[in-house]
Amino acid sequence: MAVARLITQNFRNLQGNTIDFNSKLNFFIGDNGSGKSSLLEALFFLGHGKSFRTTKVESLVCYHQCKFVLSVKDDKNCQLGLSKELDTGNTLIKIDGQRRHRLSDLAKNIAIQIITPESFKLFFGGPKERRRFVDLGMFHVKHQFSDQWREFSRVLKQRNACIRNKVDDATLTYWTDLLCQHSQNVSILRREYTENLFTELKQWLNILLPSVNENISVQFTQGWPLKKELCQVYLDNKEKELQFGYSLYGAHKFDVKFMLSKQPLESHLSRGQQKLFLLALTFAQSSLMARVKRIKPILLIDDIGAELDENSRATLSTAIERLNCQVIVTAIEKSVIYPLIQQRSVEEYNMFHVKHGEVLPAKWNPADSDNVSEKVQ
Ligand SMILES: Nc1ncnc2c1ncn2[C@@H]1O[C@H](COP(=O)(O)OP(=O)(O)O)[C@@H](O)[C@H]1O
Ligand SMILES: [Mg+2]
Repeated sequence: MAVARLITQNFRNLQGNTIDFNSKLNFFIGDNGSGKSSLLEALFFLGHGKSFRTTKVESLVCYHQCKFVLSVKDDKNCQLGLSKELDTGNTLIKIDGQRRHRLSDLAKNIAIQIITPESFKLFFGGPKERRRFVDLGMFHVKHQFSDQWREFSRVLKQRNACIRNKVDDATLTYWTDLLCQHSQNVSILRREYTENLFTELKQWLNILLPSVNENISVQFTQGWPLKKELCQVYLDNKEKELQFGYSLYGAHKFDVKFMLSKQPLESHLSRGQQKLFLLALTFAQSSLMARVKRIKPILLIDDIGAELDENSRATLSTAIERLNCQVIVTAIEKSVIYPLIQQRSVEEYNMFHVKHGEVLPAKWNPADSDNVSEKVQ
C-alpha cells in the first residue's frame, strides 16, 4: 500500500494537519524543531503501535491535551485509525470503521521501515537492534513467524520463571525441551530469511556501495554454539543459568553480523558509508517484503542530509527509483533534496514545508537551484 492521506490531531506539535501524499516520493522540509521527525513518528506509530523515539505515550500527546488521533487512508481507500488517551492509557484502533483490539492488526496492514540519523549507530551498536530489524522483515515475509515467535516467547517466559523459582528438575526439563523445539523452529526460519536477505542485499550494494560488495559476508549466530545441540548446552550450563536467573541461550539471543574481509563492517566504513550500507539493507528487506505482495512497504528517511554527501544522495535517488515503493523523506534544507528531484517530473513527488507543527504544500522554485552546488547540477 501507499499512504494517500494522513490526518494528525494533537500528535506532538502536529496539532491539526491533513496531508495528501504522492504514491512515490514525498519531501518534508523544515527547520530544526519544526515537526518533521514527529510526522515520520506518526506514520511509524500507525505501522508499529509504538514510537521509534520514546516508550512514553505522554511525550507523544501534544502539551495540555488529553489524547492524540492519527488516521491514514491508503491508495485503495482503506482507512486505519488510532487514538490514544493519556488518562486511561486506552488505545482505540479502527480499520475501515471496524474496532480492532490488537496493535498487530495495524502492523499486518502497513509495513513501515525507518532510517534516522541514529539508525546506523544503533544497528552497529548491539544485537538488539539487529534482531529487531530482521524480525520486522520476518514478520512480513515469513507469515508463520508471528505464531512461532509468540509461542517461543511464551515458553521462554515459563522457563525463565522456572529458573528464577528454582522448580523441580522434571518441570524444568519439560520447559527446557519445549524451548529447544521452539528455538529450532524459529532459528530455521531466521536462517532461511537471512540468506535471502543477504542475496538481495548484494543487489542493492551494487547501486549504493559497490566498493564493499566483493568482500562482504554475513555471520549468523543462532543463539547457542553452532555445533552443539541446544538441549546439551542447557545441561552443560545449568548452574550458570540458575545463577543468572534466566535462559542464557536460545533463539532470543540470535544475532546477524556483517563482515568485510572477515572484520566487523563498521570498523572499515566511514559513518556515511555505514549509513549507505544500512540503506542498502533496508532496501533489500523492503524488496523481500514487496515480493510477498501482501503489502507494499513504505520507507521513511529522516534527515536525508545527515552523513550523506551529494553523490550518495544521487545514488540513493537511483535506488529509490528501482525500489518502486512509497518513500517519505525529511530534510532541513531544500537544496539537499535536489539530487532526488532533478530527474523527476513534478507528478512524481510532493513537497511540503513544515513550520511550527504546520504542514503546508510547497514547490521547487527555479530560484531554489541557486543554492545547489555546481556539481549536482
Ligand atoms: N508532546 C509534545 N507536544 C508539543 N510539542 C512537542 C511535544 N513533544 C515535542 N514537541 C516539540 O515538537 C517540535 C518538533 O520536534 P521534531 O519533530 O523532533 O522536529 P524536527 O524533526 O523538525 O527537528 C519540537 O520543537 C519539540 O519541542
Ligand atoms: Mg528531526
